[in-house]
Amino acid sequence: EGGKLWGGRFVGDVDPVMEKFNASIAYDQRMWDADIRGSRAYVKALEKARLVSTEEMEQILQGMDQISEEWQKGVFEIKPGDEDIHTANERRLKELIGAPAGKLHTGRSRNDQVVTDMRLWLRDAIAALTVHSSNLIRTLVERAAAEIEVLFPGYTHMQRAQPIRWSHWMLSHAVALSRDVDRLLELRTRVNVLPLGRYGFVGELAFDGISLNSMDATGQRDFVAEFLFWASLCLTHLSKMAEDLLLYSTKEFSFVTLSDAYSTGSSLMPQKKNADSLELIRSKAGRLFGRCAGFMMTLKGLPSTYNKDLQEDKEAMFDCYDTVEAVLQVATGVVTTLKINQSVMEAALSPDMLATDLAYYLVRKGVPFREAHGLSGKAVFAAETKNVSLNQLTEEDLSAISPLFEADVSSVWDYRSSVEQYGAPGGTARSSVAAQVEQLRSWLQKH
Ligand code: ARG
Repeated sequence: EGGKLWGGRFVGDVDPVMEKFNASIAYDQRMWDADIRGSRAYVKALEKARLVSTEEMEQILQGMDQISEEWQKGVFEIKPGDEDIHTANERRLKELIGAPAGKLHTGRSRNDQVVTDMRLWLRDAIAALTVHSSNLIRTLVERAAAEIEVLFPGYTHMQRAQPIRWSHWMLSHAVALSRDVDRLLELRTRVNVLPLGRYGFVGELAFDGISLNSMDATGQRDFVAEFLFWASLCLTHLSKMAEDLLLYSTKEFSFVTLSDAYSTGSSLMPQKKNADSLELIRSKAGRLFGRCAGFMMTLKGLPSTYNKDLQEDKEAMFDCYDTVEAVLQVATGVVTTLKINQSVMEAALSPDMLATDLAYYLVRKGVPFREAHGLSGKAVFAAETKNVSLNQLTEEDLSAISPLFEADVSSVWDYRSSVEQYGAPGGTARSSVAAQVEQLRSWLQKH
């Protein structure tokens, strides 16, 4: 029989290369705890169904406790025939308690086990990622509250657009991340379903419900695909934040200074400080989308129920988890230790960024916005032609463009009153940014 779970009808040995190719123990051993929790609950259901005696159940539970201890202490010995975590734990149980071990698998195949284990594992992973995401959101929100007075240039198309609060930028990333957490908790409801159709232990394992159909339960991995997409999207958001910070940390911008703790040097050029943390954060989105796309390719066209192709689900899931966990922690560290150079940020504001405000000045005097936009554009052109900045145009220059421009136009050239115009929800006025901080704080209290 060669010790294999399925060895009965086989003759001779499997090619050792095939043996290694087929095995998933190298990576699925990290589900050891989920596998044991699943088996403990299952044997209780078997006892209720009178498929094992109370005594046998006790033996199995005790054996499971010992196996759990071995894994915890790092002394569990993986043997050559241990194809995967399910095989390994079962083999060990048999060594420890003998024949009754075989009864644990009554009515349950590894195909049920693997999907149960993955759901249990992913549920814990989701809880951990929720904590890490919330830590980053909290860091952004509290910095935004502390640095609410700092202004800097807002960009669209990477061109200088309008003055905004630095906090407004930080909160824009916090808000996107809070949606990621909401999405994660929403997909959790589809993860937290028991694939084994035995009501007896739904409660035991704290699942929300049971799978409606056994073929669907063992053959589908959409809960994994959703998680891989979630991870890709979350890191896509963080890659945007990292890219902005990379730009802001260049000598040319010098808006922010990255802590040495999150930078590296150049082996050649002694003056260099490279923002490797931010570049790696940016890069990981690509890695994880590759995981997601790759697994979708694996799923496409598979026939119903379990096929060994599905074994590919685990490395993708683990890698997405590990990568997002690391990125969230590094990003939290980066944001916590980042220095901002307020004077440089505010000195980077220039009067041309108030051209919209100049148009609003005319709007307040009854000019339709489209027309005001055109007149302000003419003022920008006039300043460029004279090679002066927009606020250096004389009253004569401006009144030649529109007689509505009067001496009080000078009130336009103020960055702080400019941002204060945007007091609507979502705006960059102090009150509006403070309201965003409060909303995110109460969101954080609920997560
Ligand atoms: N190691 C396998 C996996 O990860 C477990 C299921 C094996 N089932 C089977 N019929 N060979 O998918």
